Amino acid sequence: MSPSKAQDTVGVVGGGMSPYRGLMLAPTPSLPSALHVLEWIKRPYEFFSRCQRELGDVFRLRLPGLGYITVVASPEYVKEVFTLSPEDGHAGKANVVLKPFLGDHSLLLLDGAPHQRHRKMMMPAFHGERMLSYGTSMLNTASEVIDRMPLERPFPIHEPLQELTLRVILKTVFGVAAGPRFRELMMLLNESLSIVARPVMLFPVMHRDLGPWSPWGRFLRLSERADALLQAEIEEARGPQGAGREDILAMMLRARDESGHPLSDQELKEELITLLVAGHETTATALAWALRWVLSDAVLCKRLRGEAEELWSGGAPSPERIARSELLDGVVKEALRRIPVIPVVGRVMQKPLQLGPYEVPVGQMVAPSIYLVHHNPALYPDPERFDPDRYRTFRPSAWEFIPFGGGFRRCIGAAFAIFEMKMVLAMIFRRLRLQLAPGYTPRSTRRAVTITPTEGLPVVVRSRAPAALLASG
Ligand code: HEM
Repeated sequence: MSPSKAQDTVGVVGGGMSPYRGLMLAPTPSLPSALHVLEWIKRPYEFFSRCQRELGDVFRLRLPGLGYITVVASPEYVKEVFTLSPEDGHAGKANVVLKPFLGDHSLLLLDGAPHQRHRKMMMPAFHGERMLSYGTSMLNTASEVIDRMPLERPFPIHEPLQELTLRVILKTVFGVAAGPRFRELMMLLNESLSIVARPVMLFPVMHRDLGPWSPWGRFLRLSERADALLQAEIEEARGPQGAGREDILAMMLRARDESGHPLSDQELKEELITLLVAGHETTATALAWALRWVLSDAVLCKRLRGEAEELWSGGAPSPERIARSELLDGVVKEALRRIPVIPVVGRVMQKPLQLGPYEVPVGQMVAPSIYLVHHNPALYPDPERFDPDRYRTFRPSAWEFIPFGGGFRRCIGAAFAIFEMKMVLAMIFRRLRLQLAPGYTPRSTRRAVTITPTEGLPVVVRSRAPAALLASG
């Protein structure tokens, strides 16, 4: 099949029979597996949509290194996947591409009892009431970053959004985000991410240390330095200077498992990196998507400016008040629905899984497609339309709205991310008159495991209200 043909259709190859109970394997596109991987990397959403049109709500793709992946698109099958027990569906094995970057002890990579142990020890820092205590710092950080945005000239807003979310997560995890150690950590994380964000870096063949100038060599040296800084931070938090700290690191240091043991230093460092990485790139990208949709809709833009004005009408609003805004809630949900930041979440089966007439054999991955579930017209009428008001009458279930995955592996930062997005958007629409850069046509592209707007979403700030005016209302 010529590549141009491959663009419009995927063809179909019968699924064959599962070796277990005589059930069928899901059908697979007739493209060579090299094209599966190319399409998966370059245009996952268009590719998934074509596969669904031609093969149905369950289909298999073959990705070199990962084997067969059964993609599922209907909420009933997503429910089957998200209600798998921790023994039957391993997510850590499905996230194996992240291992070289995050390490063996990262929550994203663990399975079974070690995963449950870490998750229990980390969860308390992400409970609802803790979120409120982070709100003011999120608003202040947003304001500081807004102050540094250029006026009247196009710039890619993804970058300052990333700086903003990195500052927020550093402050939340370590209690402060100032001083030389944090500046260095920010620089190291930014540089490391810019290396590993290139899609080719997902391939193990790229992971060769060919000296400090090779991408992997550079990444390893940056990681070594970050490790030393995190070790110093852990030791400080454990010592007399750490007394009275209430940040996430302090809570993780105090946490004990059922046998009374704390996390080891290595476990702590890998979990800290996981939170810093998982917690900022995703949220910055979701914010960029929210802006992409809102800035393309003059009426919605005006409504958001009006909402922000109303929120600030009696003086600076409390974070709780901003978080309760129905319009902001709809915008955030719709941004996460319309173009999900993460295309799929996976589970590697430890026992066969039946999905209607099909079976996913042991050792193969099953992966709910977040995008396809979010574009099901029976759930979301006119799914291409960005409509923050659709949630006034429709409350999707845990299998119908899945930007944060689901079940016992659902993102531990989901409430944090939603809360942060509301604070940042409220501040942006209170202080800025923003436009998409003239001539820019928004499209999506891949940055490592996330799907982001092309060119970092170029925008122009037309005017900026001074921060000082906001406090007095
Ligand atoms: C809009 C922002 C975010 C999106 C779209 C997102 C998405 C996801 C998804 C899809 C998963 C996999 C869930 C599954 O396998 O079922 C996940 C896991 C995870 N996320 Fe997030 N995330 C976001 C923000 C955050 C934040 C702010 C943090 C931390 C502060 C965070 C930390 C984690 C961690 C530690 C896991 C692993 C959970 C586990 O395996 O038990 N994420 N996230």
